[in-house]
Amino acid sequence: MVFTVSRLREDLEFGALVTDLDPAAIGDPATRKALYDLWIDKGVVVFRGLPDDGDTQIALSRVFGKPARHPLKFAARADTVDELVDIYYVPERGDIVRIGDGPSLGAWLPWHFDLVYVDRINHGGILRPIELPATGGATGFIDGLEAYGRLPDALKAEIEDLYVVYHFDADIAGLRYGKTPGVVLERMNPSAVTVMDRLAELPPVAHPLVFTQEETGRKVLNFSPWFSLGIEGMDRAASDRILGEVLNVLIDEDNAYFHEWRPGDMVLWDNWRIVHSATGIPAEQRRHMQRTTIEGDYGLGRPSTWAEQLEQA
Ligand SMILES: [Fe+2]
Repeated sequence: MVFTVSRLREDLEFGALVTDLDPAAIGDPATRKALYDLWIDKGVVVFRGLPDDGDTQIALSRVFGKPARHPLKFAARADTVDELVDIYYVPERGDIVRIGDGPSLGAWLPWHFDLVYVDRINHGGILRPIELPATGGATGFIDGLEAYGRLPDALKAEIEDLYVVYHFDADIAGLRYGKTPGVVLERMNPSAVTVMDRLAELPPVAHPLVFTQEETGRKVLNFSPWFSLGIEGMDRAASDRILGEVLNVLIDEDNAYFHEWRPGDMVLWDNWRIVHSATGIPAEQRRHMQRTTIEGDYGLGRPSTWAEQLEQA
């Protein structure tokens, strides 16, 4: 093996740390297969010790699938280059939240899957820091596959065939399900306001609450708190009860991995399984990351007209 694998946290089954990967081996078919299988098995892979540059990040991403452009062109910035998307927080712009009596935070995000508000969810991505804040700025990961295993049997049976309706919403503090207690949006970034003006381009979609990982037959609790509106075909009370029970199991920070970034880290996750979040940074500091997007379609998302009933309820 041309790389070393260890655990991210001793008591967590998901996640892997890869070190000693010779960058020249990224082109080797056997290495590529071993890395791909590790990703499918573990869900999150932290690469440490690779050359800290965009070309390596892109080459590594292509091990796991074809590159994808973000489907929302208006969400990408003008300085987006090819396969790398810039994710900035600077004090002059960017969302700012406050949680309870805590300090103002930039670069904070609630638990979510990327692009769950469209029918074709990308398979994953790799994040790499360009400029890190002096403090804070961890990225949280929770495994929906392990969370499924923690569900009570009666709830597993109840949710087996259900679909959840999603609709884009730029308000990171206004979640219907899984809202962080005490969170208040102090400022919405101007580009999010632009997106909200174009919501008609993003009609509601539905995704199954449970799906089976093709390669392994393992079931995944497939739920993104951010962007979720409710359960298709159910009224508000029934949605609230079921998704409340689901959230109690899924969003359990004892079972989360929080990645504290170091320069040169590249973190890969499986977006069909791993919900992620950002813990935020002091609002006066800066953060700049670059992300690749790995294409794919698990084939289970579709448009949904149920959002109207949920919104009226
Ligand atoms: Fe994300």
